[in-house]
Amino acid sequence: MTDTEATPAGDETLEQQLEEMLEIETFDPPESFVEHALLSDSAVYEEADADWKGWWVKQAKELHWFTEPTKDLNDSDPPFYKWFEDGKINASYNCVDRHVEAGNGDRVAFYWHGEEGESREITYADLHRDVQKFANALKDLGIEKGDVVGIYLPMIPEVAVAMLACARIGAIHNVVFGGFSADSVKERMEIAEAKALVTVDGARRKGKTAPVKQQVDKAVSDLDSLKHIVVVQATNADCEMQDGRDVWYHEICDAADDECPAEELEAEHPLYILYSSGSTAAPKGILHTTGGYLTGVAATHRYVFDLKPESDVYWCSADVGWVTGHSYIVYGPLANGATSVMFEGAPDYPHKGIWWELCEKYKVTLFYTAPTAIRACMKWGVEHVEKFDLSAMRLLGSVGEPINPKAWLWYYKVIGGERCPIVDTWWQTETGAIMITPLPGIVSTKPGSATRPFPGIEADVVDESEGKPIDEGQGLLVVTRPWPSMLRTLYKDDERFIETYFSKFGKETYLVGDAARKDEDGYFWIIGRIDDVVNVSGHRLSTAEVESAIVSHGKVAESAVIGQADEDVGQAICAFVTLEGETEGTDELVEEIRARVGDRIGKFARPKRIIWADDLPKTRSGKIMRRLLRDVAEGKALGDVTTLRDPDVMQQLEGKIKEEQASEQ
Ligand code: PRX
Repeated sequence: MTDTEATPAGDETLEQQLEEMLEIETFDPPESFVEHALLSDSAVYEEADADWKGWWVKQAKELHWFTEPTKDLNDSDPPFYKWFEDGKINASYNCVDRHVEAGNGDRVAFYWHGEEGESREITYADLHRDVQKFANALKDLGIEKGDVVGIYLPMIPEVAVAMLACARIGAIHNVVFGGFSADSVKERMEIAEAKALVTVDGARRKGKTAPVKQQVDKAVSDLDSLKHIVVVQATNADCEMQDGRDVWYHEICDAADDECPAEELEAEHPLYILYSSGSTAAPKGILHTTGGYLTGVAATHRYVFDLKPESDVYWCSADVGWVTGHSYIVYGPLANGATSVMFEGAPDYPHKGIWWELCEKYKVTLFYTAPTAIRACMKWGVEHVEKFDLSAMRLLGSVGEPINPKAWLWYYKVIGGERCPIVDTWWQTETGAIMITPLPGIVSTKPGSATRPFPGIEADVVDESEGKPIDEGQGLLVVTRPWPSMLRTLYKDDERFIETYFSKFGKETYLVGDAARKDEDGYFWIIGRIDDVVNVSGHRLSTAEVESAIVSHGKVAESAVIGQADEDVGQAICAFVTLEGETEGTDELVEEIRARVGDRIGKFARPKRIIWADDLPKTRSGKIMRRLLRDVAEGKALGDVTTLRDPDVMQQLEGKIKEEQASEQ
C-alpha cells in the first residue's frame, strides 16, 4: 500500500482506537522501562517526605560547590526564603567545566539544527571555550557581577552561550522570547535597567528573514541605561551599528582572552530575571537565584526524564525565551551533562514531519513538548510521523497547559508506540522547576492528570474562602512548603511579590493562581488559571496587557479581553472593543488593532476575534464582568445580570454575537 492510500483509512482506525482507549483510566509504567529506571521504588516519596530539607540537601550535593553549604533552608523571614545560603557555587561551572574536567569534553551538548537544514554539533568543550570567551568579552565591555544583561535571540547556540557567560561572571540575564516585539524588549530592559543587550542582526522564520536589530534600534534609542548592544551575525540582515554602543559578537569574542574562571558566587546570588504575565498590564520580573534553582532543575530533569547522560538524546521543543527553555534546554540538561537537540525552526517548516525527521536523525530518546503542538500534529495526520523511525524514543513529556486525554493518547500511541511513559509536568515560571509530575518508573499515569507532587514538594487543593484542604471538587492549588527553585521575589518589587503569592493564605502558603482538583487516588488535575491570565499555545499573557495595547490605538475607547477555549491553541484571545465617538468597526480597523497588539507585545498575542461593543458590562463599582463576556462569546445563556450598572448592555452584546454568527453562515 502506498502512503496516500494508507492515510484516510489509517486515520479512521486510529480515531476508533483512540476512542476505545479513552475507556482506559490508568497506564502503568511499562515493565521494560521500570527495569532500567533511575527510580523505581515508591519509597522515595516517603523518604523525601520524612526529611524534605534533607532530601533537597542530597540533591544539592549532586552539584559542584566551591564551598559546600552547611545550611539547608533559612525560613526566618517568610516568604523570603533562602536555600543553602552559606554555599558558594557557579551555574556555568556546573553546566560546562565540570563535564570537561570529568573527561566528557567531547560529548555533544547540543545537536543544533537550523531551519534550512544546516547542522552544528556543539560539544561541552566547545561550550567551555565559547562561554569563557564571551564572558571575558562582557567583562571587557564593563559588565560586572550583579549587572543585568538582556538577551533577545532566536534559537541559535549563541543564546545558551550568552546565558552561561552571564552566569559565569555573576551578571543577571534577562532573556526576552524572540516572539515578543521590540517594544516589549524595551519595556523589559527599562524596568530591569539592563546595561547591555545581546541580540541578532535578523531572524529566520519559515524561509523568511526578518530584521531584528533594526527594530530594536527604533525601540531602545532613548534608553539611557542601555550602554551596549552586542549583535550576533546570524543572517546578514541589514543593520546599522552605532559607534560607541554597538559591537559584533564575533569581533568582541575574537578579541577577548581565552580563560575566564567562573566566579565563586553565593548560593543566593541572582541568576536571572524572566518577565512573565500576571493580572495587571505590567509584566512581573520573576527572580531566580543560583544554588536552589540549579538544585531543582537538575534533580527534576534527572528523575522526571530518567536521564542517562551517556546514552540518551533529549529534546525539549520549547523556545529558550520561556522558562521551559531556561530550565529544560539550558540549566537542567547541561547541569546533568545531557546531549540535547536544539532546533531553530517551526514544527511545520520545511515540512510537517520535520520534528520526527530530526528524532530519527539524532535518535532522540526523550522528547518534551506542549499539548498545543501535539494537537497540531494530530491535525496534520499520522502520515507525517509514520515516515520516520521513532524506535529510539523511550519517554515523552508534556508541559504548559492541561493536556486533553485524546491528545495524550495520540501522543502515547503515535509518537510513543505505546511503550513510552508520558510525564505530564505541571509547573510555572515562578516555581523554576517541575512540581507536579509522574516519576516515570513508579507512578501509573491517568491521561490529563499531572499525577502527584515531585518528591520533597507538598501541594494541596484548598477552598477559596478559608484555605482549608478539600478532597472533592474544584479548589485553589497551593504549595505548602518552600522548595529550592522557587522565585525569590519580583525584581525590585517585594510588595507585589507578597501581594500576588503570599497574601491570600498567609506567608507560608504559595498561591499558585491555578484551579485544580484531587481525585480519590490523590492525583492532581489542573483546571486552569483563576486570574486574568490567558494561556495561548502555552504562552502566558495577561488580559490587561493585551487590553492596554488595544486601547493605545487612537480610535479605541475601551476594551476587555478574555481567553476563549480554542481547539488549536488551548485558549484564544477574544477582544471586546468599544470605539471612540461615531467610529465604525471595519475590517481595516480589525487589522490595525491586531497589528498594534503585534507591535506592542508580539504577534502571538494578536486577538483571534474582535467583537465591537457599544458598551461593556460593568458592576456598579465599574469592574468589568469578564465572566459574562466569556458566556456571551461562547453563546451560553446569560445568568443573573442584575448586578450590572446597565443590564441592557448584555442584550446588545448578545445581539451582536448572533449577527456575527449569522453572517458567518
Ligand atoms: O496554568 C498553568 C499552566 O501554565 C501556567 C504557568 O505558565 P508559565 O509560567 O508560562 O510556565 C509554563 C511552563 C512551565 C500554570 O500556572 N501549566 C503549566 N504546565 C501545566 C499547566 N497546566 C496544566 N498542566 C500542565 N502540565
